Amino acid sequence: MRFSPNFLDEIRSRLSVSQVVGRKVALKKAGREYRGLSPFKVEKSPSFFVNDQKGFYHCFASGEHGDIFTFLMKTEGLEFPEAVERLAAEAGVPMPKQPERNIEQEDQRERLYRLLEASAAFFEGALRSGPGGEARRYIEGRGLAAETISSFRLGFAPNSRTALGSHLKAKGFSAADMASAGMLIAGDDIPEPYDRFRNRVMFPILDLKGRVIAFGGRALDKDAPAKYLNSPETPLFHKGHILFNAARARTAGHEKNRVIVVEGYMDVVTLAEAGFEETVAPLGTALTEDQLKLLWRFAPEPILCFDGDSAGQKAADRAVEVALPWVKAGHSVAFAFLPTGLDPDDLIRQQGSAAMTDVLAKTRPLIEVLWDRELKAQPTATPEQRAALEARLGALTGSIQDAAVRNHYARELRDRLYQLGRERSAMRMASSGGNPDGVRRQASYARPVATPDWRSRDRNRLGGNSGERKFSGRRDALSPPPLVSHELASHFQSISPREALIMKTLINHPWLIDDHSEAIADIAFAAPSLSVLRDEVLALHARQNSLDSATLRTQLSKSGVAKVVDLVAQTITHISDRFAEPDASATDVEAAWHHILALHQRQVALGLALKAAEEAWYRDCTEEAEIRLLDIKRQIASEAAMDQMDDEFDQPDDDASDVKRAG
Ligand code: UTP
Ligand code: MN
Repeated sequence: MRFSPNFLDEIRSRLSVSQVVGRKVALKKAGREYRGLSPFKVEKSPSFFVNDQKGFYHCFASGEHGDIFTFLMKTEGLEFPEAVERLAAEAGVPMPKQPERNIEQEDQRERLYRLLEASAAFFEGALRSGPGGEARRYIEGRGLAAETISSFRLGFAPNSRTALGSHLKAKGFSAADMASAGMLIAGDDIPEPYDRFRNRVMFPILDLKGRVIAFGGRALDKDAPAKYLNSPETPLFHKGHILFNAARARTAGHEKNRVIVVEGYMDVVTLAEAGFEETVAPLGTALTEDQLKLLWRFAPEPILCFDGDSAGQKAADRAVEVALPWVKAGHSVAFAFLPTGLDPDDLIRQQGSAAMTDVLAKTRPLIEVLWDRELKAQPTATPEQRAALEARLGALTGSIQDAAVRNHYARELRDRLYQLGRERSAMRMASSGGNPDGVRRQASYARPVATPDWRSRDRNRLGGNSGERKFSGRRDALSPPPLVSHELASHFQSISPREALIMKTLINHPWLIDDHSEAIADIAFAAPSLSVLRDEVLALHARQNSLDSATLRTQLSKSGVAKVVDLVAQTITHISDRFAEPDASATDVEAAWHHILALHQRQVALGLALKAAEEAWYRDCTEEAEIRLLDIKRQIASEAAMDQMDDEFDQPDDDASDVKRAG
């Protein structure tokens, strides 16, 4: 039951807070307030205050705060209506006859439903009548079949100020209800109320239960002030929550797992007639958040159709902003752009429904429309301009409320930004005729790090028993401690088999770059030659998507990294590394790729940790630093041992497992 604010205020005005609270808590006057021991918390000094002027209590000990109703609820465990009833009785205020009022309200809604249904029937009849001739010819002229007209219940509002009003009056509806339903224009300054819809083709708007709740009317007269006129907001009709044809589209949409959003009434009707019954339109406004949420109940990725012209593009841009905050796992919007200047109705009339099928086959995901929009908004030629683009994208991404989706957007947009930067510099180099390889070397993305060589069988270097002993004494200031990373420096020049394997895999399976370009750009190769090779591969990929392996190799051989390519190709791989070979299946490659990258990252991380631990030990020479250093060395040694075990496990079995696989 809902209580009116007036009723509750009446009770509050008759019962002071101190009066109600005072029955439970001993209160002492303190200035304008009362003070006492908290009823919510055991305490020695009073921190519970009551203010009758303001009508509330506040407890500083527990943070509890409220009025007379909440006090009873909190201290006596009553529900709100019970508290109200108790205090109303105490104050001598009679309880409202709420249920009766509800019925009355229901009654009005019921009356409005009946009134609108009667109006729809009246308009349908008028379309079939003599004065409806012009409207009939107009509708038929637009190519609608008789079945479509009757299934959408299209009608005609006669060119009269009183036709509908008198019809409804004869049926017993009051002028007040006609006005509430939006069918009659009335008001204090309007001496003679009159029909809202006159000389228009009428499109009834139904709710999800199929009840008429409003109308849209298309002017027959070219000089009419508005081509389309819609019902105003009424108790039954809230524009922003309703979509034209929602009930039918829900059923059809569920079946097809698709829902199409167009701009106009006629578009919906024509599309439905052409077999696209899962089509809706907002009602003369841009799509709202509520409408979007309604659409997601029909299908996970509503297709929003826009005209291909600039106005359509603008409308699409607005839709991007509406949708973005609400997208969530599996729920988004897609965009379909029509040929310039045509709405779906025009398209189907001129080119048939196959043309619409084509348009729908070429939908574009939200992220692409967003990216295009931002790319076109401002130039992106310089790093500063690209930074501005990044900031705009960041703001847009930030508006996504769903954390998982937000992360994926951020990642993908970073990827695209990165590609863009590379494309721009590739273009710049091409136009300036410079030596791309030289420039790229300087701009290498690789970070030189201390990366131990995992495949090395020489594990003494990594601190065997003999090595560990050397750390136990005090450091000799003149001689550097043994086993520091200087030693590793020489390995920067040689190529570790795992790093070579990574590049070999990429060159044989360049499609991996499509999905992993960011991760690839981030690989910290110990060998600078591999960084250069990687950068070259990414640059070629950026210039030409879906690069195949043969083309890639040809282009690499021309670009001065041929030697490294050869070196990589000669990498001796083990049976477990078969995925690197050209004939490996995509699933195997993808799975192994993640595995090898993870191993490499761990190796890099341990390398960095080793370097830091060495520096710390060098600097501080504490026992703690020594323990940490030894611990990292142990980890490195055990990884290397595992690697070696892998190899030994693979090699003798080579032939046998081949036979097993073949059989
Ligand atoms: P359009 O002007 O594109 O008309 O308005 P349309 O849908 O192509 O209509 P036809 O084909 O000329 O009959 C698109 C939609 O915008 C709303 C209506 O919902 C319309 O269907 N609109 C348009 C209005 O609400 N009021 C208007 O005055 C015009
Ligand atoms: Mn149209």
